[in-house]
Amino acid sequence: MSKKKSSVKEFDKYELYLKSVQSPENDVKFLNRLYKELRGKKATILREDFCGTFNISCEWVKLDSSNKSIGVDLDPEPIQYGKQTSFLSLTDKQKERVQILQKNVLDPALPKADIVDAQNFSYSLFKTRKQLLEYFSMAHKGLNKDGIFVIDCFGGSQCMEPNEEETEHDGFSYFWDQDSYDPVTGEAMFYIHFKRKGEKKREKVFTYDWRLWSIPELKEVMEDAGFSKVHVYWEGTDEEGEGDGEFTRVTQGEDCESWVAYVVGEK
Ligand SMILES: C[S@@+](CC[C@H](N)C(=O)[O-])C[C@H]1O[C@@H](n2cnc3c(N)ncnc32)[C@H](O)[C@@H]1O
Repeated sequence: MSKKKSSVKEFDKYELYLKSVQSPENDVKFLNRLYKELRGKKATILREDFCGTFNISCEWVKLDSSNKSIGVDLDPEPIQYGKQTSFLSLTDKQKERVQILQKNVLDPALPKADIVDAQNFSYSLFKTRKQLLEYFSMAHKGLNKDGIFVIDCFGGSQCMEPNEEETEHDGFSYFWDQDSYDPVTGEAMFYIHFKRKGEKKREKVFTYDWRLWSIPELKEVMEDAGFSKVHVYWEGTDEEGEGDGEFTRVTQGEDCESWVAYVVGEK
């Protein structure tokens, strides 16, 4: 007797993660603009540290036919996923310009780039200033002359207490769960949960055991790592007071419940 095939799509944590938290097409446009604004010329080589499924690396080579990207991640699972998804959508010529390395971002022999980019707060896994300085120093070393190092960061009063936020998407909900915050160590535990329509909530699909670094700490550690100038890019607000995805260079921020910013170091 033949089994009837289920029409329910298999749960794909990376697909839901991409839909919930990533916008690689916008990220590469932002990086391109940033380099032009700071250096007055075009960047060609992008290194995506903690690249996971390396969507940014794939988008970068689509942006310009001379662009090359290098993705670096320790974990073979997301790398393999990226090879079977976004990488497959590239043309043969674009594929030749993407290099994926299953390596540690602290490896001193990583290839050099015009932009080293670390997204989704991944450096927060370095919990001591010594470890963070080691990583920022490696990023500095990994830049070509005129290179820039770009990281994102988040904060606000909401990050100083446990809370869980649900965002509804087409067919599923995404939950960003801040489980704890320790004011003495600065450490916080975060989880991502998903709930597909009509299904039970899947708890702790992704776990992040992080230290919450402040913008001034990140700036100071970048300066200690040898960056000649460090800038902060702050998000604008729309009519409803929500972030509008437009980031501009600032010297002062604005006190709010929750914010996202970029810290950018010039070699
Ligand atoms: C928060 S995920 C970010 C993935 C992706 N950058 C994004 O924006 O969604 C962190 C990634 O960093 C990788 N990772 C953790 N420590 C690492 C290290 N020392 N060197 C390289 N990759 C590392 C993990 O395997 C994981 O894929």
